[in-house]
Amino acid sequence: MKYHIATFGCQGNERDSEMIAGILEKKGYKATENINDADVILFNTCCVREKAENKVFSRIGKLKELKEKNPNLIIGICGCMVQQEKMIERVRHRTPYVDLIFGTHNIHELTKLLDNIREQKKAQYHVLNDSENIVEGLPSKRQFSYKALVNITYGCNNFCTYCIVPYVRGREKSRKPEYILEEVRELANDGVVEVMLLGQNVNSYGKDLSEKVSFAQLLKEVNKIPGLARIRYMTSHPKDFSDELIQSILESEKVCRHFHLPVQAGSSRILKLMNRIYTREQYLELVAKIRNAFPEASLTTDIIVGFPGETEEDFSQTLDLVQRVRYDSAFTFKYSPRTGTPAATMDNQVPEPVKKERLQRLMDVQNKISLDINKSLQGKVLPVLVEGSSKGEANMLTGRTETNKVVLFPGSPELTGKIVNVEITTPQTWILKGEIKENNM
Ligand code: SAH
Ligand code: SF4
Ligand code: F3S
Repeated sequence: MKYHIATFGCQGNERDSEMIAGILEKKGYKATENINDADVILFNTCCVREKAENKVFSRIGKLKELKEKNPNLIIGICGCMVQQEKMIERVRHRTPYVDLIFGTHNIHELTKLLDNIREQKKAQYHVLNDSENIVEGLPSKRQFSYKALVNITYGCNNFCTYCIVPYVRGREKSRKPEYILEEVRELANDGVVEVMLLGQNVNSYGKDLSEKVSFAQLLKEVNKIPGLARIRYMTSHPKDFSDELIQSILESEKVCRHFHLPVQAGSSRILKLMNRIYTREQYLELVAKIRNAFPEASLTTDIIVGFPGETEEDFSQTLDLVQRVRYDSAFTFKYSPRTGTPAATMDNQVPEPVKKERLQRLMDVQNKISLDINKSLQGKVLPVLVEGSSKGEANMLTGRTETNKVVLFPGSPELTGKIVNVEITTPQTWILKGEIKENNM
């Protein structure tokens, strides 16, 4: 029996898919890249923007024929999309040949649900709104041998007014530090050199635990684990990026000097409507503090254009902030109304053509800055963690700098998982091209 998992959305979903794969392998299934060859096809979905959802429906639509040819095929949908109200009805209506639906809180029930489908010859749709406890110790089939995702919190309590995540991922819950540290130790023993600590807002890690522990303290503990070379984390909310955290990063040499600080908007008025809890000025102060403590750091961000009520003046403040901060790169999005969130029913929704035009102007400004910053790296020699052969270009390897920039360079795939020194020869907007220097680290 073979399974195929298609994963959409963020690293949280990537990690969940590893656990889903682990559960299926334990049941004797083998992975297949070829969807036509699979006995179980699972879509691990995202609903953060409408586009993500449409993609899933269109992909599942294409499976109708496959299901008609092979009635024993099991087609399942899991992840954030099915956690939304009324989604089960929508799936029933649009794609009635889906056999399995489970949510983000009951991945551990997958084996039972699959057995039920086979035994009862009946579709199983089972989604929980939230969970009391974190289920630890699920099997897992890791995607990479040299880098790994490690959950530290699940869910989110922030309720930014545009965002669906708190509704589909439930309340914020921290994993106990001993579970996290044990997992990272095991990974390091297995040869993993880079871990990414995951949470919607890692800075609020530990606040819900009976024995209080902060993200800053957790980082210091992870930093002590032998064998690791790099520690990353995703995502840190600017509202609680504390001085204690800056201090802890300063003391933890393995923590990458890369700060992903989603700003979302440059106007304090819009930030207030978004419920982001910081002003433009407070954000800029935080950036100054970080630049001061880590002059060599890279800074990246997420920005939404066209939030309800965003005027040309508000938008120009976003452009201005981008020019002041000079981000290395930015993920930029058009605001996408999500049913059930406060912003979806706010007055003054911005027309699509305006959103489109603002997005383009923002990307133009940011791309120039990215290229400028990257050009300053010309001739520099940077340690790069090799991630394998480049998909696009033959005989080329791809890897990342500590500052999370993608580097492309000629080399042997055997170097995958190693950190090598690369001289940057051709910096571009989104990638750096280079050549390996001798005396590798
Ligand atoms: N927890 C993370 C973000 C997770 S979602 C944080 O707070 O930074 C990733 C990004 O998607 C967000 O930073 C935001 O920029 C974008 N996003 C979320 N909801 C959106 C929506 N309704 N429309 C457009 N972009 C959205
Ligand atoms: Fe969404 Fe805000 Fe939570 Fe991030 S912090 S997941 S943007 S509600
Ligand atoms: Fe998408 Fe869910 Fe992540 S909505 S961004 S997959 S938490």
